[in-house]
Amino acid sequence: MLFDLRPKKSKKDLFDREWELEELERASDRYPLILLLGIRRIGKTSVAWCFLEGRRGFLVDMRGVVRRADLYERVSRGLEESLGKMRRFLRGIRGIKVAGTEVEIRWRGTDSLSFSGLLTELNKLGRFVVILDEVQYLRQPLLSEVRETIAYAYDSLDNVTFILTGSEIGMVKSFLKMDDPSSPLYGRYAHEVEVRRFTKDQSREFLVRGFEEVGMAPPMAEVERAVEFFDGIVGWLVIFGKSYVDGRGNFEVIAEMATRMALNELMKLSPREKLVLRAIAEGARSWSQVRKFIEEKEGITVAKSSLSRTIKRLERLSLIKDYGFLDPVYERAALRL
Ligand SMILES: Nc1ncnc2c1ncn2[C@@H]1O[C@H](COP(=O)(O)OP(=O)(O)OP(=O)(O)O)[C@@H](O)[C@H]1O
Ligand SMILES: [Mg+2]
Repeated sequence: MLFDLRPKKSKKDLFDREWELEELERASDRYPLILLLGIRRIGKTSVAWCFLEGRRGFLVDMRGVVRRADLYERVSRGLEESLGKMRRFLRGIRGIKVAGTEVEIRWRGTDSLSFSGLLTELNKLGRFVVILDEVQYLRQPLLSEVRETIAYAYDSLDNVTFILTGSEIGMVKSFLKMDDPSSPLYGRYAHEVEVRRFTKDQSREFLVRGFEEVGMAPPMAEVERAVEFFDGIVGWLVIFGKSYVDGRGNFEVIAEMATRMALNELMKLSPREKLVLRAIAEGARSWSQVRKFIEEKEGITVAKSSLSRTIKRLERLSLIKDYGFLDPVYERAALRL
C-alpha cells in the first residue's frame, strides 16, 4: 500500500527507487562503507529495507539508542527480522541464543559477544550488510565504540558492508570524522548515495496510484496542489494521501497539519537558529541579508562568527542550503517562528 505511513519493507510496495537500489548494489560490491543520505521523509529507511530484501543483513534503528544495552537490544531485533536466512548459522555462534523467533546476544560476562565479535562471525557467512539507520543520533561513549567497530570491519572484514543513513547529512559526515587524524576512520572512503526527491511527474503518478489502490478516484485538483507544494518529498505525499483518504480534510487542511508537524520539530532549535530560519523564510538570500534582518527586526547585533556558525549548523541539519529551504513545509513553518 503506497499510502502506508510505515517505511516500506518490500520492493513490491516501493514506488520507483530503481536508481537508488542499483547504486547501492553497485556500491556494495566495491566499497565497505556507504552513506545513504537524504532529507527527512525522503524515503531513506524504505530504500534501506528494500535493499536488504533477499540479502543477508540487518538494519538497526539508531534513534533512541543511548546505552550499550540499547544497541545490543536493537541488533538482536535486527537479527530477528532476518532470522529466516540465518537461523542455523546464528545458533552456532557463542554468545548468541536463538529461541523461536527471538535472538538474544549476551554481551556481558563469560561467553559474551561484542558488536565487532558478532561481525567477525557474520563475516564467515559470506556477504553481509549492516545498516545503521539515522546514525547521527549516537552520543558518546557509544559513538566512539561504533566508529571503531566500523573501522575494524572496514579494514578486516571483507564480507561486511556498512550502510549508514541519516537525514542530518552534515551530522552524519561529522559523525565519521574521516578527516580527523585521531579518528579510527581517518583517511577511509565512504561512498555516498543520495535518495532523490520525486519529479513532479513521479509525485503525480505516486498519488494517483495510491488513490487507485484504495479504490478511490484521484481528486486531481487536490493532487495537483499537493504535487506543487510537497516538492517530491514522498513522506509528505504519503501523509497527504493517507489523510485525504481518511477524510481528514482537503489539501489546505492537510498542508496546515504538515506545517504544524514541521513547526513542532523546529521548536527544538535554539532561539538564534530559529531567528536565522525565519530570516531565510522571509527572503534573506545571503549572509548579510540574514544579519540585516536579525538586526532590523529584532534589534539584536550578532557577532559575525556566531552567525556563520549558526548557518553552518542549520546546513548540517539539512534544513537549508545556499540560503534556501530544502523542504517547503519547513519553510512555511519557519515563517511562524
Ligand atoms: N519509494 C516509496 N514508495 C512508496 N512509499 C514510500 C517510498 N519511500 C518512502 N515511502 C513512504 O514515505 C514515508 C517516509 O519514508 P521513510 O520512513 O522510508 O523515509 P525516511 O527518509 O527514512 O524518513 P525519516 O527521515 O522520517 O526517517 C513512509 O510513509 C514510507 O512508507
Ligand atoms: Mg527513516
